[in-house]
Amino acid sequence: MVRHFLRDDDLSPQEQLEVLDLAVTMKADRFEHRPLAGPRSVAVVFDKSSTRTRVSFEVGIAELGGTPVILDGTTSQLGRGESIEDTSRVLSRYVDAIVWRTSGQERIEAMASVSRVPVVNALTDMFHPCQVLADLQTIRERFGRLAGLTLTYLGDGANNMAHSLLLGGVTAGLHVRIAAPVGFTPDSDVLRDAKARAEATGGSVTLIADPHAAVAGADVLVADTWVSMGQEDDGMDRTAPFRPYQVNAELLGRAAPGAIVLHCLPAHRGHEITDEVLDGPASVVWDEAENRLHAQKALLTWLLRR
Ligand code: CP
Ligand code: NVA
Repeated sequence: MVRHFLRDDDLSPQEQLEVLDLAVTMKADRFEHRPLAGPRSVAVVFDKSSTRTRVSFEVGIAELGGTPVILDGTTSQLGRGESIEDTSRVLSRYVDAIVWRTSGQERIEAMASVSRVPVVNALTDMFHPCQVLADLQTIRERFGRLAGLTLTYLGDGANNMAHSLLLGGVTAGLHVRIAAPVGFTPDSDVLRDAKARAEATGGSVTLIADPHAAVAGADVLVADTWVSMGQEDDGMDRTAPFRPYQVNAELLGRAAPGAIVLHCLPAHRGHEITDEVLDGPASVVWDEAENRLHAQKALLTWLLRR
């Protein structure tokens, strides 16, 4: 059966661990794994802007021996109204996997519904699961483990990063705290699914409005933009309610000794995170960005092995 990666809990805890272990191998012997030689091809389609995702997939697919086919969704026929399903039927006759950054989660579900090849979510409005694989790899590098650590995400609790950290984090056995202002709390279905999975892994999910309480004793703090792609003109005040959730030295000082700070980037310095923290010793954001490459190579290798 073709496996897709549309949301973080598409991987079981055991499968997530297999991918994370493979990511360690990919990083250690960067140019020695060529499972896509042959060559096999991967379409990588963007309906939204990208720097990291685009370059890490293109470079990663090439390093695996495959051919990356990068497509701008808005200038493809998809952008002129060809249906997602018809696009999927055609692409999956040419390529061995489809990676897509788009808006609605239902769009990527439609792509997967008729695809003969694995479909990978490279960010939707709901989830950013490739990012969270890289985040987990980065956390594991620093602590040597994942299960039992406490991760606090601060900011827009209703965005793709919050949702993916919930599902992906509890899959790894993390205690995930979401610190968000009223009106910006996670989707209730995602919360329900995260709680159910946490019961199986020993992780947990907590919503905490007070940012000071949320970071107390946390091992990992995570920031993300207060204005995700597509929300620029949504009519909501995305500044004032978020100010108390800025990841700054004062909040970091309340976390556990040795706590680390993640941000998927791009950062809006002086908004969700200060220069002092982003450029300071607790920040692991550059390793985190690098790990996109290794984690995605591992994911593609794992999906195409099946
Ligand atoms: N973190 C992330 O997905 O970055 P890009 O938007 O640059 O791909
Ligand atoms: N939440 C952000 C993540 C960017 C990588 C967005 O969707 O714009």
